[in-house]
Amino acid sequence: MYNLLKGKKGIIFGALDERSIAWKVAERAHEEGAEFVLTNMPAAVRMGQLNELAEQTGSEIVAANATSVEDIENLMTRTKEIFGGKIDFILHSIGMSMNVRKGRKYTDVDYNYFLKTVDISALSFHKVMQLAMKQDVMNDWGSIVALTYSAAQRVFPNYNDMAEAKAMLESVARSFGYHFGEKKKVRVNTVSQSPTETTAGSKVDSFGNFVAYADAMSPLGNASAVDCANYCLALFSDLTKYVTMQNLYHDGGFSSTGMSEEAMVKVGEGILK
Ligand SMILES: NC(=O)c1ccc[n+]([C@@H]2O[C@H](COP(=O)([O-])OP(=O)(O)OC[C@H]3O[C@@H](n4cnc5c(N)ncnc54)[C@H](O)[C@@H]3O)[C@@H](O)[C@H]2O)c1
Repeated sequence: MYNLLKGKKGIIFGALDERSIAWKVAERAHEEGAEFVLTNMPAAVRMGQLNELAEQTGSEIVAANATSVEDIENLMTRTKEIFGGKIDFILHSIGMSMNVRKGRKYTDVDYNYFLKTVDISALSFHKVMQLAMKQDVMNDWGSIVALTYSAAQRVFPNYNDMAEAKAMLESVARSFGYHFGEKKKVRVNTVSQSPTETTAGSKVDSFGNFVAYADAMSPLGNASAVDCANYCLALFSDLTKYVTMQNLYHDGGFSSTGMSEEAMVKVGEGILK
């Protein structure tokens, strides 16, 4: 351990169970000396698993639906009370599509679901930052990170309306990053992670094949959730103070690879068709 986040305080959205990327971020941030508030939807908090993580990391839990301005307002107020002051980092690790959950194809989406996808998975990031700015929650030189996927740039047919949500999420990071940087020197970035076996990830149709294909196509292989957590920590640390408004790939090289030898061999062997 490097004490990379010693003295830093934050909010971590989206730890559901121990497979969650946010869960790994919380565990690693704790090991690196950070203190934080854990938050998730009231229904997810009621499930109770988050209590384990809170106990393990000495954190408080504040329930908030990230689509509700009122809930986020309350979360920011409570966080300032808990720490007796401002914070240094926020992780947005939230994604959900009812179209994916209900098996609606991209060409046959339900538009109410589509709006919900965008509200939960993208607009919530704007809401979090708007409230953090209005309530002056962030210390100068703080860092805000959201998790995304490269379906924002390229087509992955089963990713459905989450592709549009991720494109908007990345755009919000750039636009808000400009304003937060000007006002408070706060940096805002998105991390574009390899497919990872989590609750949200495994909802994508044929997810196992998706993971295997990405692994074969990435010179370093797929990045794990713990490695993603480590990258987020680096972005919360003072070692990355001038990185902002970026979409940063954490995918073992997948996004820059047209074809890999491993994938070619597997196609030849009939393993990948
Ligand atoms: N798993 C992957 O393959 C993968 C790849 C790239 C990016 N991501 C992104 O990583 C992030 C975290 O996902 P994960 O894979 O750890 O899965 P996960 O299911 O563990 O986390 C998703 C979280 O979003 C929360 N959430 C959903 N609706 C919410 C709402 N209205 N308010 C507050 N929280 C809400 C859930 O309760 C859950 O904790 C998501 O943004 C996801 O799109 C995942």
